[in-house]
Amino acid sequence: MEIFNQYVLPPTREHLELLRYLMVLGYLVLLPYVGIVIGSALLSFFLCVGERDTSNPLYSRVAKELIDMAMPSRVAVLVFGILPLPVIWIIHGQWLIHSIANTMHLLPLGAVLVAAGLVVLMAYRHSLDGEGQNSITVIGTCGIGLAILLLGSFVLLGSVTRFFDPERWITTHHAVRLLTSWNVIWRYLYFLAGALSITGGAIIFFFFTWPGRAKRLSEEEARLTKYLGAGIAIAGMVLFPVFGFFYLFTLPIVALSGQLYWVGALGVGVLFIAFLYVYRVLVGPKVRFGAPTFVLFVFVFLLMIVGDQLVLVNATEEHIAALVTEAEEREAEIQLEREAMRSAAIKPDIVRGQEVFNSVCSTCHRMEERLVGPPLGSVLPKYAGNMDGLVSFIQKPSKVNPDYPPMPAPGLPLVDIKSVAAYLLNQITPDSKNAQGGAPEPVDLERATDEGEAGPTQGELVEEEREDTDQREGE
Ligand code: HEC
Repeated sequence: MEIFNQYVLPPTREHLELLRYLMVLGYLVLLPYVGIVIGSALLSFFLCVGERDTSNPLYSRVAKELIDMAMPSRVAVLVFGILPLPVIWIIHGQWLIHSIANTMHLLPLGAVLVAAGLVVLMAYRHSLDGEGQNSITVIGTCGIGLAILLLGSFVLLGSVTRFFDPERWITTHHAVRLLTSWNVIWRYLYFLAGALSITGGAIIFFFFTWPGRAKRLSEEEARLTKYLGAGIAIAGMVLFPVFGFFYLFTLPIVALSGQLYWVGALGVGVLFIAFLYVYRVLVGPKVRFGAPTFVLFVFVFLLMIVGDQLVLVNATEEHIAALVTEAEEREAEIQLEREAMRSAAIKPDIVRGQEVFNSVCSTCHRMEERLVGPPLGSVLPKYAGNMDGLVSFIQKPSKVNPDYPPMPAPGLPLVDIKSVAAYLLNQITPDSKNAQGGAPEPVDLERATDEGEAGPTQGELVEEEREDTDQREGE
């Protein structure tokens, strides 16, 4: 967590919105995949054990087919199972930056365990290619990989579930106690039920609908995989809403919202349609609609993940509001700094100032006569040495003299305003010095100390004035 606090700026509202989408995407890649690996490894494990007991080679063939389906290649494992892990960690880290979410340090542990479990299961898959597939080591590798993956996904999901309960960020610190709350346990069981059902959906899809695959299956293989797939899917589908309900029931009040119930209701509806499909597979003579069945299960996962997002947003509302304010303040600060830099970079140009004066100001102003506005010769001396004051008056005129109507803002770019101000001050500088009569020195000194930067500007202007006069004299 410290890493984020140290190096990452507080996210803005748009940034947070983006993080939400990325989070959904990350989980949508990771969770269904890990679910399928868990379900397939579980079936594969029991089939291997069954093979040892019954010596039926069919079991070991299907055991291998199943883990091949879940881990078709290293790249697939990397892309679906491992790459989303750091992404999810980083996103949660940014989301909870400057908070005291107490399981932030457990999340990477879960992620590492998930990755380790996947690697061990990969080794199991390879060991099935060789001889002696039912040896204790092979079964042991599967069991260990599965156990690590289960533990890893529990720690990962558990620490994320803990983010939904900000009140306990302060009260509980012990890692084990953090993860053994009922809410975390129901949430994990709910995920496992989803894992079983999506594994069933994947079996129905990849074994029977995936191009070219179904033909390779012998009749008894097809029968076994069909019953396994449909059976595990139905078991998962029955448990899913039950655990989901308990999970919802044990969530802290802050995390709940009306939307969440809608998402839950929609999930149950989708699950029901998927159930009808799977039921047909189970009782029908032929496996059909593999693809839509699988898509429905992925959709159920999507709803589960969207539900999690809602819960996270509800639960961290206060934290997020604080973050957004912080980000906005920073943004405003940066904006101010930039503005100051930009206006400091703009140098007034006296020639341009004269043009601006002639084209814009001269409609209302002369130096010596009264037009719409006062004769500038009489109002400018008070701005002598106060370039900034004059610039800001021209930028945003305020009411000064009751004898005149208010001056409208000329709406000029800053460079023009600065130039015209410089031009005007340049016009009156010698007069103003004279006008201040007896004691010009102390007044100037006072200004120099009061306005800091205004002093030198005036000095520069005097210089320029002299050059100007010199030139004129030269001509
Ligand atoms: C539409 C007419 C109009 C235009 C154009 C106009 N002014 Fe004025 N200006 C006025 C009026 C009216 C006042 C008197 C406002 C008051 O006293 O409240 C005034 C006042 C001023 C003053 C005196 C401010 C003070 O503190 O007493 C300055 C300096 C000035 N204008 C500069 C300019 C410059 C520079 C421009 C061109 C960029 C400009 N004005 C364009 C109408 C105009």
